[in-house]
Amino acid sequence: MHILTIAIFLVSLIFNSYSADKALKPEQYPFSFSKPLGKIDKNSAQRGLQVYVEVCASCHGLKHVAYRSLEGLGYNKDQINRIAAQFQLNDLPNDEGEILKRNAIFSDYFVEPYENYNAAKAANNGAYPPDLSLMVKARKDGANYVRSLLLGYTDAPEGFDVGEGYYNKYMAGNVIAMPQPLYGDDVEYKDGTKASLEQEVNDLVTFLTWTSMPDLENRRAAGLKVIFFLFIMTIVFYLSYRKIWSELKN
Ligand code: HEC
Repeated sequence: MHILTIAIFLVSLIFNSYSADKALKPEQYPFSFSKPLGKIDKNSAQRGLQVYVEVCASCHGLKHVAYRSLEGLGYNKDQINRIAAQFQLNDLPNDEGEILKRNAIFSDYFVEPYENYNAAKAANNGAYPPDLSLMVKARKDGANYVRSLLLGYTDAPEGFDVGEGYYNKYMAGNVIAMPQPLYGDDVEYKDGTKASLEQEVNDLVTFLTWTSMPDLENRRAAGLKVIFFLFIMTIVFYLSYRKIWSELKN
């Protein structure tokens, strides 16, 4: 190939990637877990679970999360069975060979919203609603990104063609196939918290951070122990160094 053709091709590649990625950087929000030793706010995560179940679960799966792991958010087994019973899945074939639905229970994983990938795409104008279990880890600055995205729906600027999608400042390319899912007052919180848009989004992101990193607190606690241990050992080694050398010098 002619060298000039290659050069033009490369330059156009660079320009394309610029124009495709004109998303705003996510707004930084001080979540309970943002600080180095911060924890997941369990009450907030419980409210976030409610938002997921009542709003997002009709399109997005959470297939890596088992209902029983909700114990980590402070629920007991009965409460978890009640949460799971809001979802139905195919039972094993009965004696007549029919497959009936049954309520999900403690030991199941979150039930998928669609029978399969193609059904999910077909129901959403050809765009697949990705599984949310690991979404906060999968995107750069994930917690802030998901928060900004859910708050980032605005009217498209003059002359901007969104096709069959919706305008969103934080989405790569500024067009997203997901209609704005939250407006505020989408749920009635069981603990009486006011369900403003911002509250719902913060709770939801706290919940999705927990699903992505359920062991976050343990890891941080372990890290702290290691640092404490190294600190003590530094003192021990320093004192023994002093001791050994003081004897050798005499
Ligand atoms: C009506 C179906 C529907 C509902 C309800 C819905 N979504 Fe989506 N969502 C989609 C589709 C479709 C996409 C794929 C968008 C695309 O690729 O343009 C998507 C994409 C996403 C993404 C990924 C964006 C990216 O960076 O690729 C996130 C995060 C997300 N949704 C979160 C949520 C949350 C949280 C809720 C609940 C508050 C929710 N969605 C409710 C259909 C839905």
